[in-house]
Amino acid sequence: MRVSIASDHAGFEQKQRLAQYLRDEGADVIDLGPTTDDRVDYPDFARAVAENVAAGDSRFGVLVCGTGIGMAMAANKVPGIRAANIMDIRFAELTRQHNDANVVTLSGRFVTFEDNCRIVNAFLNTPFEGGRHAGRIQKISDLEK
Ligand code: RB5
Repeated sequence: MRVSIASDHAGFEQKQRLAQYLRDEGADVIDLGPTTDDRVDYPDFARAVAENVAAGDSRFGVLVCGTGIGMAMAANKVPGIRAANIMDIRFAELTRQHNDANVVTLSGRFVTFEDNCRIVNAFLNTPFEGGRHAGRIQKISDLEK
């Protein structure tokens, strides 16, 4: 499975570790930066991952900033992206089952690396349930028109 990942400076350390974790789990990881923990603007990196996922170049995206909130706001501006800011494993499962989220945004400052690994693992391995949820996803897509 191909996964693109990026962060800002606040999420940099966890982004580096999560990229390695995903590679160790067998994912094909596209690291879209940054390459240092120098201060950067999170929308630039949200855009890179969101456009990569929207283009079909990766199946899922992972974004890490201080809270994950700004990354979600920015990524959700890209058509075709359903980004969810997740701090809880059950929510990771639910946003896949019900929302067919394709980008997960994480907190590098307030959630441990170990918990973020569990969240990402749940996110990547939980299928969309479809059924009654499919029409709702279509209505989200309709908002982009
Ligand atoms: C950077 O200080 C911080 O604002 C950013 O990482 C993120 O938390 C924004 O939502």
